[in-house]
Amino acid sequence: MIKVLMVCLGNICRSPLAEGILQTKVDPTEVFVDSAGTGGYHVGEPADSRSIAVAKEHGLDISQQRCRKLVAKDLRDFDYVYVMDRSNYKNTIALAQTSAEKDKVRLLLNGSNLEVNEVPDPYYGGPDGFENVYQLIDTACEGIAKKLNSHGN
Ligand code: 4NP
Repeated sequence: MIKVLMVCLGNICRSPLAEGILQTKVDPTEVFVDSAGTGGYHVGEPADSRSIAVAKEHGLDISQQRCRKLVAKDLRDFDYVYVMDRSNYKNTIALAQTSAEKDKVRLLLNGSNLEVNEVPDPYYGGPDGFENVYQLIDTACEGIAKKLNSHGN
């Protein structure tokens, strides 16, 4: 089983979408996908209603997800840790105990040939921000899924 963790600050806007979107693109018997936040403000809560809504518009139900905080053990347990922005990167690698753990951490959009390499935090913006975030994450996950799916072949 390949284990992939999606990380943002709150684990209520961006990484729940990334978890849900990547799950639809991989074989669940081969790839386990989870998400977490570097901040602990919303632990136990569902995703932001705007993320749930934009996912639903695209036929994806993320309403069962619950927020959890990133812990050092995640960097041992997961094979790939994708972060949304540089601030998430800094906060995540701060928990790494070895250089191998640090190397697992990547910016989600790196390698996607997009014009941006960070998924902007949509928390304080309007609903347009969530559609933009959805599209960026979807594009990145398409590439990641291709890579993961080809590993077994
Ligand atoms: P996320 O967005 O990192 O995409 O989940 C945020 C959600 C909540 C907060 C910050 C960012 N907050 O400060 O509560």
